[in-house]
Amino acid sequence: MKTLVLCYSLEGNTKVLGEALAQGIDAEFERLIVKKEIKSKGFGKFIWGGRQVFMGKTPEIEEIKADIDEYDLIIVGTPVWAFTYAPAIRTLLSLGLINNKKVAFFCTHEGGPGKTIKNFVSSLDESNKFLSGIDLLNDKKDILQHRERIIEWAKGLISES
Ligand SMILES: Cc1cc2nc3c(=O)[nH]c(=O)nc-3n(C[C@H](O)[C@H](O)[C@H](O)COP(=O)(O)O)c2cc1C
Repeated sequence: MKTLVLCYSLEGNTKVLGEALAQGIDAEFERLIVKKEIKSKGFGKFIWGGRQVFMGKTPEIEEIKADIDEYDLIIVGTPVWAFTYAPAIRTLLSLGLINNKKVAFFCTHEGGPGKTIKNFVSSLDESNKFLSGIDLLNDKKDILQHRERIIEWAKGLISES
């Protein structure tokens, strides 16, 4: 199954894990880049990032290089922001590029995943088949501690579908 891991990441954790996942399952990886990104340092990120979530913003992202049509499975990754997925994922879904695909989802968070997976599933276009969602705790030690778990998760859903 041709698989694309498509991640947004402000501070790099979701990216590092997404890249390790892609490598472990022989998939392509791409990071979503927000054109006018908020600063990733300091407390301001929570204010500006949270504000974007509450206002339902869809920040502009750079054009996605991968041709999504070529893939059978899209694995979307995001940090949790204010108990849901980051606004860049809202942008991704609003572009209408993910249709008639198998879709899986992972998020990284610091202990409050909220309704991130549920919200993602309800925002996904109905033409897609949602396979599975997983949330992974970023306890600031080493996000790659979850490497094996996420690879096993993805391999499992690929073999089942
Ligand atoms: C704006 C903002 C809001 C956040 N909200 C939450 C939250 O609601 N729950 C939680 O557990 N972590 C929250 N976090 C922490 C991130 O989800 C966590 O550090 C994540 O692993 C960062 O991923 P990244 O390095 O890929 O950006 C928030 C971080 C930011 C910047």
